[in-house]
Amino acid sequence: MPLNPLNIIAALRSRAPTDALPSVAEVLALLRAQDAQRDALYAASDKARHDQVGDDVHLRGIIEFSNYCDNDCAYCGIRRHNQELTRYRMPIEEIVEQAARARTWGCPTVVLQSGEDAWFTVERLADLIRRVRATGIEAVTLSVGVRSLDALRQLKAAGCDRYLLRFETSNRTLFARIHPDESFAQRIQFLKDVRSVGIQVGSGFMIGLPGPLTTLARDILFATSLDLDMIGCGPFLAVPKTPLAGAEPLQDREIYLKAIAILRLLNPQANIPATTAFDALMPDGRDRVLQVGANVFMPNVTPAKYRRMYQLYPNKPCVDEEGAACAICVRGRLARLGRPAGRGPGHSLRHIQGA
Ligand code: SAM
Ligand code: FES
Repeated sequence: MPLNPLNIIAALRSRAPTDALPSVAEVLALLRAQDAQRDALYAASDKARHDQVGDDVHLRGIIEFSNYCDNDCAYCGIRRHNQELTRYRMPIEEIVEQAARARTWGCPTVVLQSGEDAWFTVERLADLIRRVRATGIEAVTLSVGVRSLDALRQLKAAGCDRYLLRFETSNRTLFARIHPDESFAQRIQFLKDVRSVGIQVGSGFMIGLPGPLTTLARDILFATSLDLDMIGCGPFLAVPKTPLAGAEPLQDREIYLKAIAILRLLNPQANIPATTAFDALMPDGRDRVLQVGANVFMPNVTPAKYRRMYQLYPNKPCVDEEGAACAICVRGRLARLGRPAGRGPGHSLRHIQGA
């Protein structure tokens, strides 16, 4: 007998964190839900978000401070192999100034992201974090790839609150094919190291990588098994002139949103961002994600002169905007959705409760 999505949704709504995870078949049934059943999924995930983490949307200004990358991921627009790309590295002073501006534009916290850029040694990153925190920024998320355990300790001491490193896909064979410079095990060990030094852990995957839908169902379950503070997932968008060029997006575009809705039901207390790539996939993409379970928005506050050089994928939004524009635009988006901007650092409930 086919699984009924409405029964699965009802079971997930009353699921305790210690209960067994749903089966792959059950997650697949939710990913395939249509019409009224899909609407029921969205209503349940939006309610779970409202009940557990409230209506606030935490604004984290993202500064993409370097597009140098030692890695050659098959999916990525700033991969080492892309020799047509002009590389840039923001001076530390400029990053700090931009973080200070982001605060005046209404972002209490920032995300500092780059390719795997060895110029940014742990000492330089620690100095950067200290100076950013000294501007009054209330929390710093770092997203700069895998570093050593000792480096993590130094970054924590400097004031790093959160670290974002996606596992990209839980399918080990696919991972090895698309992320050749690091092993899957290394990435997962790194996430454990992040937790062990007391930094909040963010991870996630790309939705719609080439392969069967079963992989997506397994990715959702794997992300849940990591018990994350933050789950950052976004659509995979094929980049011309990369090994994955020409890969088609999922035909049912709603699957991208259903994935977020299922993640919210399974992880009611996590911070879940409406990631930028959703706007590249569909009109009002990020607004829709905020309506199916997300509670974080990351306005791009990278100075305009660098943005075109940090195109991880085609159609990346706001590449011609100045820093303030995205921070202002998000206010209008939130007002239309009837959602307030969060105040303070917006730590995960898991972190606040000392789990
Ligand atoms: N270097 C750091 C790392 O790998 O964790 C941070 C920067 S990396 C460019 C940030 C994220 O961009 C990756 O984790 C990946 O999921 C996402 N990304 C890269 N190429 C993408 C694409 N073509 N479509 C969607 N997301 C992409
Ligand atoms: Fe830079 Fe993958 S291409 S981390």
